[in-house]
Amino acid sequence: MILKPNEENIIKAAGALIKGDIVAFPTETVYGLGGDATNPIAVSKIFEVKERPSFNPLIVHITNFEQFEKVAVVTDDRVKLLVNKFWPGPLTVVLPKRDVIPDIVTAGHETVAVRMPANEIARKLIDQSGKPIAAPSANAFGFLSPTKAEHVEKQLGGKIEIIIDGGNSSVGVESTIVEFRDEKSILLRPGGLAIDEIEKVVGPVEHKSQNTAKPKAPGMLLHHYAPKVKIHFINEADLSAVNKLRTAVLAFDNSRSYSEFHVNKILSETGELHEAAANLFKHLHTLENEDIDLILVEKVPETGLGIAIMDRLSKAANRYR
Ligand code: TXA
Ligand code: MG
Repeated sequence: MILKPNEENIIKAAGALIKGDIVAFPTETVYGLGGDATNPIAVSKIFEVKERPSFNPLIVHITNFEQFEKVAVVTDDRVKLLVNKFWPGPLTVVLPKRDVIPDIVTAGHETVAVRMPANEIARKLIDQSGKPIAAPSANAFGFLSPTKAEHVEKQLGGKIEIIIDGGNSSVGVESTIVEFRDEKSILLRPGGLAIDEIEKVVGPVEHKSQNTAKPKAPGMLLHHYAPKVKIHFINEADLSAVNKLRTAVLAFDNSRSYSEFHVNKILSETGELHEAAANLFKHLHTLENEDIDLILVEKVPETGLGIAIMDRLSKAANRYR
């Protein structure tokens, strides 16, 4: 059930978390499906509801630095500088884990992914529960991430009792994930915080190769984030073979017209990448509900948040190759 984010409902949702149930809640990136990160039974419910493979570890959400040190070993000065600058916000750091975090959260890794979200509803919920909250994106595994309560309801509504409504997610793509080990920093997933912003603080960040069958981040799987309708890049499609009346176009900006297609959506009229990111999953959810056979999407410039947008679109298109 979708619930308004008032105090009564947040107390109710926190109560559910404390007893080991799971709850969907808004964050500034995408909606999360949360459970008490210290309770392996609660965490197992997350995997079950998402139908997520157990080799995929979860991000632990916290609201303060004391809680951060309780779940992860924070000795690296680069990490301290980075989180001081960008938390709360769309940044996840992967560090050695502490014992309170059970193996099911980290899929047996000795490291844990941690994020301090900025969304006020998420923060109230986590604070009220008094627990670190493990939460993947609140979608069925492999499908579009939710940026509205209705998106969660559409995919998981029959399986969860509480969905807290926080309106549209303001960032619209998942957090950027960086692992810190030895002297290195490694990008595991591009996301809502641009990589160049991170590099200004910690120096060069290594980009891991993505072609692995059992990756550390499902964001690193070759296909993921897919709408139910086939999706291709428009510049790679043979337009003469396309039935335009059964096709949608998702354009980056308003520089071209696609009025001959059944539907068209624009990520950002002015070609602004933050706005494009915020609209990405919202438009894809709308388009996958249309009576069409194909979504054609324009590429966006691969700078700043454009890197995360192209990562999501490429993985969606890969599913249908
Ligand atoms: O913005 C976000 O990060 C959202 C919101 C809800 O916070 N969460 C999210 O979670 O995107 P999820 O589960 O959809 O993606 C989490 C990513 C996965 O790619 C997972 O493999 C990676 O984090 N991850 C988690 N723990 C890890 C670890 N110990 N080492 C490497 N990757 C890890
Ligand atoms: Mg996800």
